[in-house]
Amino acid sequence: MTATRIDGKAYAAELRRNVADQVAALKRDHDIIPGLAVVLVGEDPASQIYVSSKGKQTVEAGMKSFEHRLPADASQADLLALVGRLNADSSVHGILVQLPLPDHINESEVINAISVRKDVDGFTVANSGRLATGQRAMVPCTPLGCLMLLRDQLGDLSGKEAVVIGRSNIVGKPMAALLTAENATVTVAHSRTKDLPDVVRRAEIVVAAVGRPKMVTGDWIRPGATVIDVGINRTDDGLVGDVDYDSVAGVAGAITPVPGGVGPMTIACLLANTLTACCRANGLPDPEGLTL
Ligand code: GUN
Repeated sequence: MTATRIDGKAYAAELRRNVADQVAALKRDHDIIPGLAVVLVGEDPASQIYVSSKGKQTVEAGMKSFEHRLPADASQADLLALVGRLNADSSVHGILVQLPLPDHINESEVINAISVRKDVDGFTVANSGRLATGQRAMVPCTPLGCLMLLRDQLGDLSGKEAVVIGRSNIVGKPMAALLTAENATVTVAHSRTKDLPDVVRRAEIVVAAVGRPKMVTGDWIRPGATVIDVGINRTDDGLVGDVDYDSVAGVAGAITPVPGGVGPMTIACLLANTLTACCRANGLPDPEGLTL
């Protein structure tokens, strides 16, 4: 058996078209243009690539992009002052501070300074608490993209056995909260989990977000399972996921490739969240097909 290859690239392109159509309607009917501010501190090469492609795709969707680049030695006070200005700027509907931040800056203080309504990453304590308690929240982009792919592939997730490998605040924890809200039975596994392959073998849904190249192999997978690979690992073999695609594809029912799976969904969901934040800021209904 060979698993269905889940085409995140195509799904993300469709999502971006949906966002662009609704952005155009917002401009036409209400003369409102959503704006996204992205803040980059320092010169981490991977972050620079992400920030550039965020800016490019924001403009392609018809939204305004505001890029703020600060030097690596910028003070926390400078960064907090910038966040404060963006919070107060009515042309900015979404604020994203690219992580990781330099060591001398307290990441959680900066993130939590972002206005809850503009927190398009969904990383503030307020938004993660809202998600965990089932209240309307801004949902972190990568787990939101994974959930969209899962729903598209499987339909109703109610009662499914799901194993999330990884417990980061950016992916693992919000992913577990989303799957729980979908009525899946959720296990969060991590580096201290005993007998990890046995735990993963129970799963009808596997979400791998650990950052270890090709860790999940075919013998860990329940036949027919749906496998979502969030890993982006740069190795001598090029870009690889947390899942050993070739061996898992022989057992799974469906699997996301790396690249071309979850990756493109993340920025598409960021655009979707920015449009959602803009609609909410203006007292308009949530956009269609972009929220949960
Ligand atoms: N660094 C890696 N992924 C992300 C993300 O989704 N948002 C932000 N702000 N920084 C990141």
